[in-house]
Amino acid sequence: MEQMHSRIFENVTREELERLAHLLAPLSTRGDFIALKGELGSGKTTFARAYIRTALGEANLDVPSPTYTLIQNYPGKGGYPEILHVDLYRIERPEEIRELGLEDASGSIVLLEWPERLGKNLPEETLLVSLDFSSGGKTRNATLNFGPGWQRRLKNLHLIRTGG
Ligand SMILES: Nc1ncnc2c1ncn2[C@@H]1O[C@H](COP(=O)(O)OP(=O)(O)O)[C@@H](O)[C@H]1O
Ligand SMILES: [Mg+2]
Repeated sequence: MEQMHSRIFENVTREELERLAHLLAPLSTRGDFIALKGELGSGKTTFARAYIRTALGEANLDVPSPTYTLIQNYPGKGGYPEILHVDLYRIERPEEIRELGLEDASGSIVLLEWPERLGKNLPEETLLVSLDFSSGGKTRNATLNFGPGWQRRLKNLHLIRTGG
């Protein structure tokens, strides 16, 4: 197995989590798989919304939670590939996952909430973002787990300051 890396950002506010998404979005390329893990209300959709708005350069773009639609598709723009925002929370049968067509998404960027419902390993080059409540629910600890591809891309991420 390839070496895995991690980065932890402790006690981030909502604005800081959005800023993290804002910094990661330009580093992504087609075929990327970004898994967003965490309990209900931990900030997965908040992260995805900030990411999609930055990627498409539309600060006020409507980015609804895909909890009910399961998948929302944002056409690529300005050289940025299509983004698929997926939420597996309501998935009941494995066929429903297959019908989402994630296997054919190699030309897109996939943001996936509740990745554990896939019931199988994530693609090797997944960027896993795990969100946990901290400071009694006011902030979050955000952990990034990734392999060598993202390690190269994230080399300069130490430039950002999150947390107080
Ligand atoms: N530090 C924080 N990071 C992310 N969300 C936060 C934070 N603090 C408060 N919130 C709030 O928590 C909620 C997270 O909701 P959401 O992003 O829909 O979660 P999920 O998709 O994980 O269920 C939002 O109302 C957001 O404003
Ligand atoms: Mg959500």
